[in-house]
Amino acid sequence: MQSIVEQDFGTPARLGTKTVTLTIDGQQIAVPEGTSVMRAAALLGSKIPKLCATDQLEAFGSCRLCLVQIEGMKGLPASCTTPVAQGMKVTTQNKQIADVRRGVMELYISDHPLDCLTCPANGHCELQDMAGAVGLREVRYGYEGANHLKAAKDTSNPYFTFDASKCIVCSRCVRACDEQQGTLALTIQNRGFDSQVAASQNVSFMESECVSCGACVQACPTATLSENTLIEKGQAEHSTITTCAYCGVGCSFRAEMQGEEIVRMVPNKDGHANHGHSCVKGRFAIGYATHSDRIVKPMIRSKITDPWREVSWQEAIGHAAAELKRIQAKYGRNSIGGITSSRCTNEETYLVQQLVRAGFGNNNVDTCARVCHSPTGYGLKQTLGESAGTQNFDSVMKADVIFIIGANPTDGHPVFASQMKRRLREGARLIVADPRRIDLVRTPHVAAEHHLKLRPGTNVALINSLAHVIVSEGLVNEDFVRARCERDSFEQWRRFVADARHSPEAMEAVTGVPAADVRAAARLYATGGNGAIYYGLGVTEHSQGSTMVMGIANLAMATGNIGREGVGVNPLRGQNNVQGSCDMGSFPHEFPGYRHVSDDATRRLFEGAWGVDLQSEPGLRIPNMFEAALDGEFKGLYIEGEDIAQSDPNTQHVTAALMAMECIIVQDLFLNESAKFAHVFLPGSSFLEKDGTFTNAERRISRVRKVMQPKSGYADWEITQLLSNAVGYPMNYGHASQIMDEIARLTPTFKGVSFQRLDELGSIQWPCNDAHPDGTPTMHIGEFVRGKGRFLVTEYVPTREKVNAKYPLILTTGRILSQYNVGAQTRRTENNRWHSEDRLEIHPNDAEERGIVDGDWVGISSRAGETVLRAQVTARVQPGVVYTTFHFPESGANVITTDNSDWATNCPEYKVTAVQATRVTQPSEWQKRFREFTETQEGLLKDADVLVSK
Ligand code: SF4
Ligand code: SF4
Ligand code: SF4
Ligand code: FES
Repeated sequence: MQSIVEQDFGTPARLGTKTVTLTIDGQQIAVPEGTSVMRAAALLGSKIPKLCATDQLEAFGSCRLCLVQIEGMKGLPASCTTPVAQGMKVTTQNKQIADVRRGVMELYISDHPLDCLTCPANGHCELQDMAGAVGLREVRYGYEGANHLKAAKDTSNPYFTFDASKCIVCSRCVRACDEQQGTLALTIQNRGFDSQVAASQNVSFMESECVSCGACVQACPTATLSENTLIEKGQAEHSTITTCAYCGVGCSFRAEMQGEEIVRMVPNKDGHANHGHSCVKGRFAIGYATHSDRIVKPMIRSKITDPWREVSWQEAIGHAAAELKRIQAKYGRNSIGGITSSRCTNEETYLVQQLVRAGFGNNNVDTCARVCHSPTGYGLKQTLGESAGTQNFDSVMKADVIFIIGANPTDGHPVFASQMKRRLREGARLIVADPRRIDLVRTPHVAAEHHLKLRPGTNVALINSLAHVIVSEGLVNEDFVRARCERDSFEQWRRFVADARHSPEAMEAVTGVPAADVRAAARLYATGGNGAIYYGLGVTEHSQGSTMVMGIANLAMATGNIGREGVGVNPLRGQNNVQGSCDMGSFPHEFPGYRHVSDDATRRLFEGAWGVDLQSEPGLRIPNMFEAALDGEFKGLYIEGEDIAQSDPNTQHVTAALMAMECIIVQDLFLNESAKFAHVFLPGSSFLEKDGTFTNAERRISRVRKVMQPKSGYADWEITQLLSNAVGYPMNYGHASQIMDEIARLTPTFKGVSFQRLDELGSIQWPCNDAHPDGTPTMHIGEFVRGKGRFLVTEYVPTREKVNAKYPLILTTGRILSQYNVGAQTRRTENNRWHSEDRLEIHPNDAEERGIVDGDWVGISSRAGETVLRAQVTARVQPGVVYTTFHFPESGANVITTDNSDWATNCPEYKVTAVQATRVTQPSEWQKRFREFTETQEGLLKDADVLVSK
């Protein structure tokens, strides 16, 4: 538990190694060159009054409150904009300075409401603090003159209010939006007395380009910009540091609390992944945790047509265990399994795989990473030797060329996108390979030099043609390859890509990307300095997802762009703990730490620790579980935190498989789509209600800390433990930290990780072991994890999913900033104000051909099924390609996706579905059935007294 006041040093830290010594108020201090006088004074504990400065933003020097005297300098310079100099002598307090500061404050206060006692910022208002600090006792100008005290409030944003009457025009908000967020939504319009903050062209915040990241709210020194929850509840009295449960950036937050109630989430300045920044989801969209849909009591039923019955924990767990044992006795040991989620903590995932392997006695455990980044794990392991990204996020600040492939960072990884934009504004050059025009292609002060607008499904053809240019134009980093990579595999790969059939000219007809663009992009990546590749699900969710990951690794190795800061191969993991869930052994073939179940030594290690014999054969993957269920061989499933009925492809196939099972146990916060097919519901806990860790996209392990008691009585890991004990495999962990201790004992890459070390260091990037006791920000320095880097031949094999006269368009899918994954959390927040339905983006030419106009209902049919969405006619997509998000279950995006999948990992080919689009007037047959089924299932819940609100 922490105080809610964080020290503000006034200006950002400088990181140089050269130091400068100066004297401030008689005390000597040495600080890095470039540090401001204000920061140096703050480091000495001397508080110089300030209003327009904050250590999250570059100094601006507008308020004139921070004036100091400097020996040998004329007048009173502003300490925030004056850099230190060797031998400088600074005086921060004397009568002359005090008089000037008081005069400045008088002017501010004469045009500021004096409603401090009822103001939401009372007690933490910097203006109020500064009035006290300078000893303001009277305002000689009075309060009657021209002022802004009646300026209107803007309450358009659901999460914060702009009360212009309190604005001191310090421009901290404008600079936060520019520097930190990179959206440039705010400006100071007019001059002098008429100066005022304006959003976009002086419209409301909701109508402007604002993306509701909250950086301006955090920067505001007064109550002008305040969180609505702060206005409603008043200030917090303590705070706890925890980690966002949304995306793979893994932002650190201070949960500011009143008792067990959250007042607001404030991004942690010391957060290693986010450095005090956030997006709309992590900062504001936490209302789902107390939403009235939340189920907090266990329930069971015999058939999915029966009403749910509230039962005690003991009965629910006893019933679930008895059913699992009955099924195994009747259908065999392999007839049951478990699915864990990338939303769970590492400790929870570890326990689920332990329950399955040791308690169920088989390896039928899988995770939702199956459907997103499993090709990353496979492809990077094969080439580089480790199933993880190579860099930390900060590495991007040293990149000269940023190459984004199949990712949309401003929507999927917004805080990292802001950092990336900062680097791009500094001059790094940008290449984007994406079928759709993502925001980064052109955004304020950022423009991609090359947008390789490829046809969905042709990634491997594109990467081979980029490699062809590098090899055939002599752009290979021969020294790097000679020193660091396998000679034979390189030569084989070189011969393969050098073949004329891979040239950009030959591939143009396949990829749709002009050859000249491919050549120019390849040259830029290979010769532009540090080249860093960032990729997402647009790479992995293909029939050749693993091949493409290998192709990316090949390209990075061939150009020497690996093994130092500023370069690398960086998968942008979608969910908060995709990396962690994979690390924790949630795939059927691997123990924690990516060790194959057939490896005798590893198996013996876990057998020794868990006291049981373990199977050496890999278990069933999620799609195999469905097949086995439909074949009558797989009958029982424990699902923790995952919603396979919404997120897996070919929904009708999935729901048929679920209906074929005899006992489905769902552990979740809500009656999600999968729970509608369940027989046991175990109410889970939100990230606010438990201890544990998440591992973000940069392998960074961060603490999740309990800020309130679990609403259902148990944290999720405790529920798994109860179930394990009930099926006869004893578990006896007293705290999540003990689970991490066991993980560290059994997993070499986690050897040095413990809750205590995490508390000391803030976060740790694995590998963390004797060689790297504080973790490893950059991997493969000097040597690849597998020794020599291995090149692999990446033959382009066109997808089986072909367009034809019946299905002439290609559907591809993606995310939007305000919603998250299946939407179970964000749909239960005010984020719906930005995105309340999934729409079908269609190019104007394709729309016109079909008589479709913006807003029309469009029927989309594929070989798997049909659904209906409203049209959004936009040139963001290219002709022949349509696009949708998948955040709402009734959209049925996965009713139309097929069960084609990656050859190596079974990751579904979500990004390529051949479809037809036609104007329609009513929902699809599936949507009608879905609505009916949903109403029935909600009806079956009505009589159970299990909701948080009841
Ligand atoms: S809204 Fe706040 S941060 Fe922005 S100019 Fe006004 S007082 Fe400063
Ligand atoms: S909330 Fe973020 S995007 Fe919106 S104006 Fe403030 S800083 Fe800019
Ligand atoms: S960027 Fe991701 S981790 Fe950070 S606040 Fe947003 S959703 Fe949370
Ligand atoms: S804090 Fe230095 S001029 Fe405002």
